[in-house]
Amino acid sequence: MPASPRFAKREGMTGYSLDFPLTDAAATARFGAALGARLRAGDTIQLVGDLGAGKTTFARGMIAALAGVEDAPSPTYTLVQAYETHDGTPLLHADLYRIEDESELDELGLEDAFEDSIVLIEWPDRMGRRMPEGALTLKLSLAPEGRMAHISGGTEWKDRLDGFDPRG
Ligand SMILES: Nc1ncnc2c1ncn2[C@@H]1O[C@H](COP(=O)(O)OP(=O)(O)OP(=O)(O)O)[C@@H](O)[C@H]1O
Ligand SMILES: [Mg+2]
Repeated sequence: MPASPRFAKREGMTGYSLDFPLTDAAATARFGAALGARLRAGDTIQLVGDLGAGKTTFARGMIAALAGVEDAPSPTYTLVQAYETHDGTPLLHADLYRIEDESELDELGLEDAFEDSIVLIEWPDRMGRRMPEGALTLKLSLAPEGRMAHISGGTEWKDRLDGFDPRG
């Protein structure tokens, strides 16, 4: 890998992909706000990454920008927190870490929300095959300086994220 460019964009036949560094927590939150500006009802974002990778920090940045709620709580125990964006779109933030059996998902109502809401899901692996096919994936990983972000999605996201700048 060459040292630069620092932003690597790969738009092959298979879909959308973008890698970039997030030097501190504020950059993670700004990225959440920037991506939020591209989202609309029906979009699901899976937030993938180890404990402490920055998933909630990203979600908080998006929730602050879209719903005007600062310092949104982590849904660690409530599992789902519900918001409404400035234009009236429901915005759900889920943390499924504590889900032990897929049947526990039934009462959360996430699947009902996929069509008319923006849904952010931490620990999406707990959803198994219930995850919508068109979901965008954000993977966060620890880096020597801050975090690395990797976004990937299907071909429809190529148009949706055309010219996207995670720095806002
Ligand atoms: N780019 C970054 N560089 C350095 N620290 C960061 C960065 N982004 C977030 N952090 C910090 O990492 C810590 C963990 O963040 P956060 O709670 O968002 O992680 P998480 O992925 O939601 O964890 P969990 O799996 O426990 O829910 C916080 O202290 C946050 O400020
Ligand atoms: Mg979290």
